[in-house]
Amino acid sequence: MFPSGFAWGAATAAYQIEGGWDSDDKGPSIWDTFCHREGEEGRVFAAQNGDVSCNSYELWRKDLQCVQELGLTHYRMSLSWARLLPDGTTGTVNPKGVRYYNTVINDLVACNVSPMVTLYHFDLPQALQDRGGWKSPDMATLFDSYARFCFEEFGDRVKLWITINEPYVCAKLGHEDGSHAPGVKQPGVAAYLVGHNMLRAHARAWHSYDSLFRSKQNGAVSLALNSDWVEPLDPASAGDISAAERFLAFTLGWFAWPVFATGDYPPAMRSAVDAQSARLGYGGVDSRLPGFSEDEPALLGTADFFALNYYTSRKVRSRGGGAGGDGVSMKSDLDAEGVLDPSWPLCGVSWLAVVPRGLRNLLGYIKETFNNPAVYVTENGFSQVGAVEIDDVQRCRFYHDTIMEVAEAIEDGVRVRGYFAWSLLDNFEWADGFSVRFGLFHVDFSEDGRPRTMYRSGREYAKIIAKHRPGPNADKGKAEKLL
Ligand code: BGC
Repeated sequence: MFPSGFAWGAATAAYQIEGGWDSDDKGPSIWDTFCHREGEEGRVFAAQNGDVSCNSYELWRKDLQCVQELGLTHYRMSLSWARLLPDGTTGTVNPKGVRYYNTVINDLVACNVSPMVTLYHFDLPQALQDRGGWKSPDMATLFDSYARFCFEEFGDRVKLWITINEPYVCAKLGHEDGSHAPGVKQPGVAAYLVGHNMLRAHARAWHSYDSLFRSKQNGAVSLALNSDWVEPLDPASAGDISAAERFLAFTLGWFAWPVFATGDYPPAMRSAVDAQSARLGYGGVDSRLPGFSEDEPALLGTADFFALNYYTSRKVRSRGGGAGGDGVSMKSDLDAEGVLDPSWPLCGVSWLAVVPRGLRNLLGYIKETFNNPAVYVTENGFSQVGAVEIDDVQRCRFYHDTIMEVAEAIEDGVRVRGYFAWSLLDNFEWADGFSVRFGLFHVDFSEDGRPRTMYRSGREYAKIIAKHRPGPNADKGKAEKLL
């Protein structure tokens, strides 16, 4: 069912696992600032932070052991920009940060595990936030310099790169809702600007890789896009059908159309934002959702594969213009609402309904809409809240069912090249702190040594991998074979 060379992985992100927030000359990131800000209770569950978290900065070898116990072929990790470049620029390189990631990458390669490396997973150096952060157009050049630095340092061994993880989440939660760092709440304006600059930054980094590194490093570069699968609540309602289309345009389409389809935002998004701007008397056309300049590196084609983070599904209904009362906001532009089907079980958090079939549907949609690209499922997981159950039978079923759907998608002709479970370890789940556990390994955060214990779902995942992973003599490490 799974092609040879299929990537069996698990994923993590620097701020969520590393700790060592100010160790060895690391600079602060916006998540350090966000969590440390005093007097604003309620930003993060129980005022928790990632200062120590799983302490992977000191305990990396324990993580490596977990990777090996699962039998992963691939490990997806992110680099802390502020650990490598404390002020965000290549003017100040932190050799201890470089050494740390060299150790991690070398260990993985020595164990025959291919790293997939994310350059940016939500943790902007605070020094760059102080210069305007992702709202500033300068971020494209700053990110490009950082990306080139990483390609230069690590690209001889890293063949799969993700530039930016979930620009949607950074833009929406970080700059519209303010529930993620940097905690900006400028509805209907900032998120579009941030998304735009993230796309520009991604495009520059991809072009740099393409022109300066690809011929000698032979890797592949993309950006990781999150999306729910959506369906109209009432399939017979024209309003709900177009609401569902809009919903997808405002999440996956926002970033996928420019890169994989047309070089520009999806028409359903552009027309909704412009129409709502006109209705609310907000500036001129283009005043909120920026346009792409022809003087900049082109967006179209700047991904060597499609990287998808899938967690859940939604039924979507139209708000029939009723969202206009929300003033200038993404909600009012979208004018649609996602709801849960009561038949879908929840896993812990309110947003996460268990719908494995949605992944197959979404993969089919990507195949049809974006010309059948090679796809990596770069995140997918099941959360546990409350009493810890090492014997997590529901999560076992979840992984089993979801991986079956991936196999079905492959049968459908989708070119799925890998699957990464979120996450290797229980970790700092952003605004939910440590209250939500996504790991294949349980981490005891009350003990100094942060002991890791495999959940039953880890054992089950390991069995699935053992059944499908290529033998030790299989030809490895050739990214072009994976596309
Ligand atoms: C993010 C992860 C996060 C996971 C579960 C994704 O949005 O990339 O960092 O932990 O979802 O919420």
